[in-house]
Amino acid sequence: MSFPASFLDELVARSDIVDVVSDYVHLTKKGSNLFGLCPFHSEKTGSFSVSPDKQIYHCFGCGKGGGVINFIMEEENLSFPDAVRFLAKRANLEVPEEQGNREASHLRQRVLSLNKDAARFYYQTLQSHAGQAVQDYLNRRKITRRTAVRFGMGASIDTWDALISAMTERGYTKAELLAAGLAVQGKGGRIYDKFRNRLMLPVIDVRGDVIGFGSRVLDGSEPKYMNTSETITYSKRRALYALNLAKKSKRPNIILCEGNLDVVTLHQAGFDNAVASMGTALTVEQIRLLSRYTNEIIICYDNDNAGKLATERALQLLNHSEFNVRVLQLPNRIVDGKSLKQDADDFIKFQGPEAFERLLNGSENSVEYRMTVIGGKYDLSTDAQKVEYSKEISALLATLDNPAEREIYANRAAALCGISSQAILSEAKRTYYTRRKSARAKQLRKDLNPALELQPKERAARYENLRSARAEEGIIRLLTLDSALFLPDPPIQPEQFSSPLLAKAYQQLLHCAQEGLNFGISALAETLSGEEMNHIASILQQPEARANRGQALQDYIHIIKEEAGRRSNDSSVDPLTAAIEKNKEKKQYGGKLNG
Ligand code: UTP
Ligand code: MN
Repeated sequence: MSFPASFLDELVARSDIVDVVSDYVHLTKKGSNLFGLCPFHSEKTGSFSVSPDKQIYHCFGCGKGGGVINFIMEEENLSFPDAVRFLAKRANLEVPEEQGNREASHLRQRVLSLNKDAARFYYQTLQSHAGQAVQDYLNRRKITRRTAVRFGMGASIDTWDALISAMTERGYTKAELLAAGLAVQGKGGRIYDKFRNRLMLPVIDVRGDVIGFGSRVLDGSEPKYMNTSETITYSKRRALYALNLAKKSKRPNIILCEGNLDVVTLHQAGFDNAVASMGTALTVEQIRLLSRYTNEIIICYDNDNAGKLATERALQLLNHSEFNVRVLQLPNRIVDGKSLKQDADDFIKFQGPEAFERLLNGSENSVEYRMTVIGGKYDLSTDAQKVEYSKEISALLATLDNPAEREIYANRAAALCGISSQAILSEAKRTYYTRRKSARAKQLRKDLNPALELQPKERAARYENLRSARAEEGIIRLLTLDSALFLPDPPIQPEQFSSPLLAKAYQQLLHCAQEGLNFGISALAETLSGEEMNHIASILQQPEARANRGQALQDYIHIIKEEAGRRSNDSSVDPLTAAIEKNKEKKQYGGKLNG
């Protein structure tokens, strides 16, 4: 374990799960547990439970669960050690860093400081004569000096080692330059500057640290944009360009763009709530991060095919979130009778900020957006296409729970295609019932085959021997309820378990109990995967009904041993083994006869 056990014990003792969860979820008491709206999936009635006695949370809806450390890992999107540090800060505890951690955190600090110095160096280069080419480029793109300063923009020049020599002079090592992704190692072992002859765009996180860089070439060469590769400080799944600025915006939402320079142009035009996911499709990590600053996202991707696909994908991801999502669709630009695709940057340049503000106000919610997309696919002047159109619209409406919403959109579609809204609605109803029927049939199949249903949902936790595993689950529950039953000598060893996951959990919990520590469940988060943790939490939240725990323990042990015996009997009647044994006997017998 990377943190001393005594420290974790203290930390968990000082981080009551009800307290910690209450920072994020409004909880109300119901019986011995507290309930609230699950922060991990979207729901209207609270199925998220917290047990103060067991110090665990468990969602009956989405199945997420665990102890207090696990909760912070999930909610704040942190690794185990970072979640521990987070809680330590909250509880005002000093973290004893282990050697390996101390080195990693030292390197991280060095890389952050190197990044900051590099950003400063690029910035000064831009202001100097050497930065003229980049300055010209900014002028061409109508990026003002003020904007360039606000974004901390810089210039890298066309040499192999300008940055390396400036930074080595400041005391940074080659290893640090490589770790920061600012230098690259060539085949011969020599290192050279990664960014050359580019406009430099520092990526600054919400804490104000320079975590990496984006950059753009000044001409048409490839690659157009080059970003820091994955480093100890930069992960493209988590990075959002300009969130450091957008988080301070007074506007009520966040505009999500594709390109860094779209964001720059938008900020310059007064839309200081724009951010960009740099060269990736929107990720769940980015969504988590955004949720700390807003509950409304406006997707404003390019209006080309790639942009539309990315929009659809982002909508699907955001579908399961608490966000209010709207889509701002940029119109094509008509030049000499030709219709041109454009991005936010183009739109602001050619149509101006007021026109963008109007688009922003008129941006569509996700249903409206999807209706527009469907509308674009059909030629509504022919009857056959009208029918196809209304079918697809009906399928969309069938996904809406709210009847008023269904009616509003059915009316709109009706007005467009000339098919009555009643017809569209009844088609939607039909689809809805067919879907429900097949969902019910599926449920019925499950009900008729309870063994299937009893299996854990998580693949990682599938049981080989269900009867034994149920007993093993019971043992784990008993251990957390009454560890005295297991001390000083445990009545059963982890090796006797049939499920490797349960054995692992039992072993660790047992170890904690033997050391007199109480943080067991929380500490499991270090070695178990999220799915495994969910499963353990769901086991722990089940009631252990019987009053006589000693007897219950004996019964469980009896089942485990019985099942283990059955498994080893099974393996001894394995036909191959039996045949070999028989053969051996024959030989021995034959040998004696001859001798
Ligand atoms: P686009 O190719 O749409 O460029 O890339 P753009 O934003 O219109 O750029 P300009 O106007 O020509 O300068 C959109 C975004 O995708 C990422 C960058 O973040 C870029 O801003 N990208 C693109 C990369 O990371 N690498 C690439 O090679 C291209
Ligand atoms: Mn562009």
